[in-house]
Amino acid sequence: MEKSFKRYLITSALPYANGPLHIGHLAGVYVPADIYVRYLRLQGREVLFIGGSDEHGVPITIKAREAGITPQDVVDTYHTLIKESFKGLGISFDVYSRTTSAIHHKTASDFFKKLYEEGKFIERETEQYYDPEAKQFLADRYIIGGCPKCGNPDAYGDQCEKCGSTLSPTELIDPRSAISGSKPQMRMTKHWYLPLDQYEPWLREWILEQHKEWKVNVYGQCKSWLDGGLQPRAVSRDLNWGVPVPIAGVEGKVLYVWFDAPIGYISNTIEIRPHDWEMWWKDQDTKMVHFIGKDNIVFHCIVFPAMLKAHGDYILPENVPANEFLNLEGNKISTSRNWAVWLHEYLAELPGKEDVLRYVLCANAPETKDNDFSWKDFQTRNNSELVAILGNFVNRAVVLTHKYFEGKVPALETPNFPLLAMDKEVLAELPLLKVRIEESIEQYRFREALKECMNLARLGNKYLTDSEPWKWAKTDMERVATILNISLQICALLAIAFDPFLPFTTAKLRNILNIKPQLWDAMGRSNLLAAGHTINQPELLFDKIEDEVILAQLSKLEATRQNNATEETPPPAPPPCEPQKPECSYDDFSKMDIRTAIVLAAERVPKTDKLLQLTINTGIDVRTIVSGIAQYYAPEQMIGREICILANLAPRVIRGIESKGMILMAKQPDGNMRFITPQEALGPGCVIN
Ligand code: 2FM
Ligand code: ZN
Repeated sequence: MEKSFKRYLITSALPYANGPLHIGHLAGVYVPADIYVRYLRLQGREVLFIGGSDEHGVPITIKAREAGITPQDVVDTYHTLIKESFKGLGISFDVYSRTTSAIHHKTASDFFKKLYEEGKFIERETEQYYDPEAKQFLADRYIIGGCPKCGNPDAYGDQCEKCGSTLSPTELIDPRSAISGSKPQMRMTKHWYLPLDQYEPWLREWILEQHKEWKVNVYGQCKSWLDGGLQPRAVSRDLNWGVPVPIAGVEGKVLYVWFDAPIGYISNTIEIRPHDWEMWWKDQDTKMVHFIGKDNIVFHCIVFPAMLKAHGDYILPENVPANEFLNLEGNKISTSRNWAVWLHEYLAELPGKEDVLRYVLCANAPETKDNDFSWKDFQTRNNSELVAILGNFVNRAVVLTHKYFEGKVPALETPNFPLLAMDKEVLAELPLLKVRIEESIEQYRFREALKECMNLARLGNKYLTDSEPWKWAKTDMERVATILNISLQICALLAIAFDPFLPFTTAKLRNILNIKPQLWDAMGRSNLLAAGHTINQPELLFDKIEDEVILAQLSKLEATRQNNATEETPPPAPPPCEPQKPECSYDDFSKMDIRTAIVLAAERVPKTDKLLQLTINTGIDVRTIVSGIAQYYAPEQMIGREICILANLAPRVIRGIESKGMILMAKQPDGNMRFITPQEALGPGCVIN
């Protein structure tokens, strides 16, 4: 049994205020978070729904520099746009604030100061890239270079957007400055690090033992980070945009954006609950849930919890139901390539269709795997589900009530005409549906919950069709009364069930039924409308979406596609593969002992650029191999990896180290080398032939 909580603190990732919102953000984070929050509120629980803009970080400063405006101008523009478009879609934040606010700067600064004063950070002076032309250190996205993992020539210092790997600037091949394009120099600089390695045993216990119920994608990502070994993480940057590092005498340094952003959840709570915010953050009776996208998992499951733990006063999240990504018409959503459906444009171009978008994004949410949004599917879901099932059922029930009973809810049962088996079956199904919807929402399975809600409308539709009130109307109005009473009760339940998902529609439905909002407890009951209650005139809940509307959206995307195609020069054809070597005999081949092995330890060979010294478990022994792969892999990337080796190569002494064997590497046409790893973990010592 899950522990019950007194209050619920629901956070949703703070979007960067450097671009508008698109459907990927909505499907991944904000639609599910809003459904959950609306459901909790319906249950009468005490809830705070925290949102806000993330206004720091390097991309914002780069955008400002490119546009010749200040970072503050950038965030002012997008904060307003984002806030308004959330409102337009009915995302019901209790607060939507921003990380440039004075409250946030103070909260983040105090948080850092406490950890600093209590010795929770380590200080390190390291060499970092510096642009002598721009006279500036090159943090994160200010440095660009080749990705050591996939070869993308434009990977950033913190991440490769092509293969999604997290990187550090020194891993980049041929780095260059994003400001001047020049080759950067190495210079010493001091930063503060959160020693995540010290929190590793605690994190292992807290996540891997105590939170086995987390979603498989979330748990799996955490496990893989933890199994890979955590390293101290810098929490400051050489930059002048952000929360200044609050240490006397330190200048030109700010808190790393990922240190300050999650503290934004606390700041925004303080902003709306200045007197009792602590209860929300420090009382064990608060259930905190973070809604995020999969690229934020490590920060919300590992880094932020470690910060909260280091601070000591705060509660930890009970769950982090991260979603995967949404694609658009088969391609990855991309802000830079304008491959997206932008929320502010949708709201302007398809007014009154807010709930259609909410419905489609939830029905198609990337809950367990990446998913696709297509305009055709959008049209089908609207026309065949919202219009044909939900809208149609409500309309039929309401129209017939006006036709036969002048808009008054008829009595359920009369002594002359008791309920039939088909009525009893439908009535018995209602409380069961309630339980199924509850279970799904509480497990963060919103697609499933939405399907159950639609099943309620399906049930109503089928009942109305099977019971044929129009036929009974010729002979027995008491039977018609029963059928319409049950149908209208189902309409009243639909107004509750769909309320978290389609709030604009349920408001309309309540208006048609002439009822007030009800709490979730009323779900499943079949007497929400008293006999004699007058309902209002019918009104269509949804309109059919015609082909022209869809074609207009598709041609907009087509224009983007063509625009991108002309802008992008095709990548140069890869150099041809090397020609085949001269023939060898089977005997030659069979002399080679090729087998799987596991890297136990790796370090650079001092005073060389190319060599790594690797300690290898070959299945038959543990030995040393010196390999010229340091340009392609950092030592920590090799540890724990399963590789293939030539085990019986004659030993050689390289730089004074005896190397016994050779690591098999694949050379790509551009010269980049990758080691070969079995598709499934085989364990060391498997002979390859
Ligand atoms: O990935 C992002 O869009 C980040 N701005 C999310 C931050 S979430 C939280 F930490 F504020
Ligand atoms: Zn890459």
